Amino acid sequence: MRKTLSIFLLCIGAVTAAPLQQQTIIDGLHDPMSLAIAPDGDIYVVEREGKILRIHPDTGGVFEIGNLAVSALRASDPKSDTSVEEGLQGIAFDPDFEKNSRVFLYYSHPQRRVDRLARFHLRDGNLDPASEQVLLDIPLERDNRVCHHGGSIRFDADGLLYLSVGDNTNPFASDGYAPIDNRADRAEWDAQRSSGNTNDLRGKILRIRPTETGYTIPPGNLFPMGTAKTRPEIYIMGCRNPYRTTINPKTHTLYWGEIGPDADKSSAKGPAGYDEINQAKAAGNYGWPLVIANNQPYPIVDFATGKPGAMIDPAAPINRSRRNTGLTTLPPAQPAFIWYPYDASKEFPILGKSGRCAMAGPMLDYDAKRPYNLLPPNGGHGLLTYDWSRGKIWFAKLTDDEKLQSLAIIDEDLTHPMDLQMATDGSLWMIDYGPEWWFNTKGKVIHLFPSSTQLGPKLSIEPVPESDRSFTVKSDKSSSTFNWWLTSGTTERQLGSGSTIILPPDASGSELRVVASDGKSPHSFARISLLKAEALPELRLKLKGKAKAFSFGESVAFNITADPQPDPAQLTVRARYIPATGHDAGGPQLPTDIQALITANACFACHQVDHNSVGPAYSSVSLKYRKTAGAIDTLKAKVKMGGKGVWGEVPMPPQIALSDRDADTILNAILHLADGISEIKGSSAGTLQLPARPATATSSGAWEFSAEAPGYTAAKFRIPLQ
Ligand code: HEC
Repeated sequence: MRKTLSIFLLCIGAVTAAPLQQQTIIDGLHDPMSLAIAPDGDIYVVEREGKILRIHPDTGGVFEIGNLAVSALRASDPKSDTSVEEGLQGIAFDPDFEKNSRVFLYYSHPQRRVDRLARFHLRDGNLDPASEQVLLDIPLERDNRVCHHGGSIRFDADGLLYLSVGDNTNPFASDGYAPIDNRADRAEWDAQRSSGNTNDLRGKILRIRPTETGYTIPPGNLFPMGTAKTRPEIYIMGCRNPYRTTINPKTHTLYWGEIGPDADKSSAKGPAGYDEINQAKAAGNYGWPLVIANNQPYPIVDFATGKPGAMIDPAAPINRSRRNTGLTTLPPAQPAFIWYPYDASKEFPILGKSGRCAMAGPMLDYDAKRPYNLLPPNGGHGLLTYDWSRGKIWFAKLTDDEKLQSLAIIDEDLTHPMDLQMATDGSLWMIDYGPEWWFNTKGKVIHLFPSSTQLGPKLSIEPVPESDRSFTVKSDKSSSTFNWWLTSGTTERQLGSGSTIILPPDASGSELRVVASDGKSPHSFARISLLKAEALPELRLKLKGKAKAFSFGESVAFNITADPQPDPAQLTVRARYIPATGHDAGGPQLPTDIQALITANACFACHQVDHNSVGPAYSSVSLKYRKTAGAIDTLKAKVKMGGKGVWGEVPMPPQIALSDRDADTILNAILHLADGISEIKGSSAGTLQLPARPATATSSGAWEFSAEAPGYTAAKFRIPLQ
């Protein structure tokens, strides 16, 4: 193995191309998951909680064309214990969409414990829920924090549908190694029942041919029809969370990104965790949960004693699970095409190090007939790979027989690329998921062009003073034509052109948009909402006793009411000292150099400054440990080794790329975040002890008192210090 690898090493260079030009088409989406490009060029996007959006790139119009009932963790019910990754996962167009207006969706059923692949009709452009035709119901578990749903639906050039399905397993109790817990009551912790089971559709990439009434099985899947203890839909088995897939339209070779487990290094329990980009020219077993990366086997761990036993043989892996309903001896494991751990990869150093979420696609080549080409005419062909955590896109250049020739970065500094596809004009469409793990309100759809593309002007819309119906466009280039559009429901209409618009008296709509075009550049847009924000019930915060001039360290009794009364468990009451000088950012802030350092160490993938994400808010970390002696060292050890249980059951993976120096600087800044802040969570009445005087306090300033709860307008007021 080593020998073949060193040949790779010779040609994998650190070529960094000029970053692609990015144009944000729409911001403010809620956990956008995947996208599909319609034959007419419109972009369809699905959001995790069930919405389906259609985007019209010529006018920038965005229309909600459906809201499917799905099982999903929701901001309105954040304590819901459904598996947190459930929801609407994937969308694809019927290959005959232009004739039959049908789309395929993959989603978590709202009542039944299944993930469902179904086909729907669009009627007048809108999803008709009653037209649902179920192709596949995949039974799964929902308790005990199982995760991984896969969810990419793709068609190949012959009309075969490929669906990626996750392992539906809890990854949090196997130390980041193989979840193969064989004890009687540990089904959710055993991926041998799903990925390793030839008779189960989970942890697979399925391949079927949809028909008018259902589907048929194409030849060439992993198990011939009628083979005992197998499912004929399986094309690829042994997947953990096969997230984004792509098919080479010319050769039918399938590629997919595989999100790997968390172990930061190898141990007696198995190899380090690796993410993988896989390539399959034919059906096969890609190993999980018994084999990983370039066919590195796991030992069979006895979860009762924690002792590792016999090693798996990748050439003939054996599924020993009591829950295995399929074959005992599995097809030989296939090695990954590209694989990388948290730490720097020896084989593929250009991939860097830190968090990982590997994704695959689309295929890339040069075509003189297309307006846009990311590659030069002699640039070869290959596969784009990207990583949600690392925020980069790489070009994996391939030989004619699809061997890896070189790997180069073609774009970096992206936030969280979630899905990436190429339009027929050669430009790319990307979903940026947003900064949070869930409940994002800043998801984006981004249009990517080659670096040489001249983008249109940057625009903004401003109301004309003293008129509530006139608007004007501000632009950084004057050579464009401006057209104004109004969105109402799922339609839009053009209002007029020019740099100013007066809304006609009959114009009612949700969004006003201006579109700039100069005949050469891609259109650019600005939009403003014409809707008034929905009013939420207001929290009232009362302080008892004296009404002003509180001192540092003093105790203040408080009482919070609202109509309807909020659940006390959801309440946060806070006192924050605001110095008299300077600009107040509205909450605790990290200095910009620290912000940059934390960004460089990719901690914001899971943490936010002042609210919980996957990991705790840094302000909460500060409130918890700021008075603890030796907190920096304890936290440093925790961050570097990873771990769980202090804030919940989700572990922090080991942050092995973090240097001691950066760790000290970051943790010191985090611990000082809550200087001048006191907080109580979970009570509607009580006593808040005001914080000690921060070192940076001035002689004057103010206290800001606030009370917050999800679904309520916060109470917030200031009282001068003296
Ligand atoms: C993949 C997600 C993820 C990433 C990336 C991540 N964290 Fe965490 N972090 C978590 C989770 C989850 C917890 C809660 C662990 C627990 O409950 O014990 C946590 C906890 C913490 C804590 C509190 C530890 C404790 O024991 O109370 C600190 C401090 C912290 N993280 C800092 C960092 C820093 C600094 C980075 C970047 C170098 C980072 N994290 C990157 C998920 C992450």
